[in-house]
Order: sequence, then structure tokens, then C-alpha cells
Amino acid sequence: MNNRSAAEIAMKSRHYTALDRGIMALDSVFADLVGTDSIRRKRPYPAATCVTTDLEEQERQHVSGLMRVNHAGEVAAQALYKAQSLTARDQELKKSMQQSADEEVDHLVWCKSRLKELGDHPSYLDPVWYLGSFSIGLIAGCFGDKWNLGFLAETEHQVVKHLDAHLAQLPESDNRSRSILEQMREDELHHATTAETAGAEELPGRVKSLMNLTSKIMTKIAYRI
Ligand SMILES: [Fe+2]
Ligand SMILES: [Fe+2]
Repeated sequence: MNNRSAAEIAMKSRHYTALDRGIMALDSVFADLVGTDSIRRKRPYPAATCVTTDLEEQERQHVSGLMRVNHAGEVAAQALYKAQSLTARDQELKKSMQQSADEEVDHLVWCKSRLKELGDHPSYLDPVWYLGSFSIGLIAGCFGDKWNLGFLAETEHQVVKHLDAHLAQLPESDNRSRSILEQMREDELHHATTAETAGAEELPGRVKSLMNLTSKIMTKIAYRI
């Protein structure tokens, strides 16, 4: 049993005060940003069985930029799921969000591992992405579960499109990055379907466009720093 599952079992069997919960929330925010990867990852690294091929310097830089964007997106996903599971009213919904959040932890760790292999670093603005996404998640949560779910479903659909664009840009020889992004794509699509099955409301077109614009700005910045 790893530390995470031991903590989860302990949480379920005890009664916590509001202060306890506040401290645990802060502790988990810290874990999201700097947690120990070997403890947090639940599924094997998709690239583990792929042959390593050398990339040209220009290719390496481009793939690093893409993986930095993906890592920043996963940092934002952690914050989003955390905020939305805090505001969700339905207990079953909270559980389902936690399951999706666990898969997002895998994505976060995989992207970070690939960045390390490429000799590059995550975005220096990760705390900003985290805080921004956490705030947006709290706001979406205040509108009630069906809009909360609608926001999640739309986010996941936009992430799938974005991953498709990244997959198309990867050098043909970079099977390691491809295996990671393909598994992430499959998971994100499943997260979107889960939210829709749970009763997601379709967001108005203007909200979707605003979300798209926000993610484009974030993408452009995280690619560089
Ligand atoms: Fe993800
Ligand atoms: Fe997701």
C-alpha cells in the first residue's frame, strides 16, 4: 500500500474539523506542485517500453515546449478538479471527480518525466496556472453541479483537440512523447464522457470561446517559460 492510499483510507475513517480539512487541502496543493512522483503515480509510464531515439536540437526544443505546455495543463487540471470536487454537492459526483483527478496525477507525472528525459524544465509559472485554474474551478462550482460538469466536459474536449494538434506536430521518431500523449488523449475523452453521463449542461458558445482564448494564451506563454 502506498502513502497516498493509506492517507485516503485514514481520511475516510475519521471525522475532521474545518481546520483539519483546510490544512489537508493546503497539503494536497503542495503535493500537486512538488509531490514525490514515485508515490503519486498510479499507472506505469506509457513511454517505458518505447525505444529512445535522439532528436535534433531544434526538434528537442519544440517537443520540450509542447511537453511543458502539457505539463502546465495538467497542473491546471489538478487545481480544477480539486476546486470542483470541493464545491460539488453530490457525493457520487465528488467520488467520480476524485477518480478523474487521480488519472490527471498520472498525466502530470508522465509529462514531468518526459521533460526530464528531454533535459528541460516545467513552466516557471506553474503556481500561476494552479491558482488561476483553482479560482475558475471554484467559480464554476458555485453555479451548481450540472454547470460544474458542463465546464469540466468542455475543458476535456478542448484538451483532446489540443492533444491532437500536439500529436500532429511530434517528430515521427518521438515514440516516447507520442505514447504519453495518446494515453492522455484516451483518458481525457473518458473524463469528458464521464462528466456528460453524470448530467453536464452544454455551456453557451461565448463561454466556450472565452475558455478557448484563455487556453491559447496559457499555451503560448507556457511553451516558452
Ligand atoms: Fe490530463
Ligand atoms: Fe482530464
